[in-house]
Amino acid sequence: PRRIIIDTDPGQDDAVAILLALASPAEIEILGITAVAGNVPLELTAKNARIICELARKPETKVFAGCDRPLDRALVTAEHVHGQTGLNGPELPDPTMPLQDGHAVDFIIDTLRTEPAGTVTLCPLGPLTNIATAFRRAPDIVERVQEIVLMGGAYFEVGNITPTAEFNIYVDPAAASEVFAAGVPLVVMPLDVTHKALVTPDRNDSFRAIGSRVGIAVAEMTDFFERFDKEKYGSDGAPLHDPCVTAYLIRPELFSGRHVNVEIETQSELTMGMTVADWWGVTDRPKNALFMGGLDAQGYFDLLTERLARL
Ligand code: BDR
Ligand code: CA
Repeated sequence: PRRIIIDTDPGQDDAVAILLALASPAEIEILGITAVAGNVPLELTAKNARIICELARKPETKVFAGCDRPLDRALVTAEHVHGQTGLNGPELPDPTMPLQDGHAVDFIIDTLRTEPAGTVTLCPLGPLTNIATAFRRAPDIVERVQEIVLMGGAYFEVGNITPTAEFNIYVDPAAASEVFAAGVPLVVMPLDVTHKALVTPDRNDSFRAIGSRVGIAVAEMTDFFERFDKEKYGSDGAPLHDPCVTAYLIRPELFSGRHVNVEIETQSELTMGMTVADWWGVTDRPKNALFMGGLDAQGYFDLLTERLARL
């Protein structure tokens, strides 16, 4: 299996990404889950990550708390999408499993130093603060990372938190800029892909029809955050962003994209956090990312439904 660290700010869609990974031990081994401030403050993301592990009956999963604010900006959160807890929708019990001792950044550094080089993949599902902090503090780990597969950014679909920026990148543009420039092989799941991953009523019914605690909780989560996208964009369902990352590790052929140069806007307030992707190759800047654009949406939802039913 691919050995991964999930760096996350749950978030209902983060929750589904984690559940998909926990349900897929043949393809994915989770070395640890590192929480970061994003959709809601750190205290809640660290709690929500554990709620999800317990929902999946995997309380042995290691969960660490990381950075509580972006590198050099105030935290922007997204309760307007995810609710006050970040996981509004289902009624889930408070976690009893412990948070691990130690800081998430130290866990990331130690893991990359201890595991054989090129065997650990980082899967960021939120702002890139923990990853950038680890790279700053321990530059020696950068070349040991196998790959970074992340959800963030947008090109043709431009922004969801400002007209030009996607939330995860916008919250910590400095961190994103450093991670994109680090030289690690990058696979990016931008809004261009995730806006094709819409939880239509039929697809949500399939989750509910699993009939298990997990299936029903996932259906209730997507019911909740759907209100926002339906009202805001008039779409047929909410985009299930973050599971694109873990689905890619299981079935990469569901996705298509291009190797392009991607750099992050960190100066202009107007376009702060924009992922400037050279989609048409109009510069000779080095190609640093496989920037996805296409998705087999039905294949994606079939995979999710099949895997969630295993938990
Ligand atoms: C991203 O922002 C968060 O609200 C979601 O969890 C996802 O990671 C989408 O822009
Ligand atoms: Ca997220």
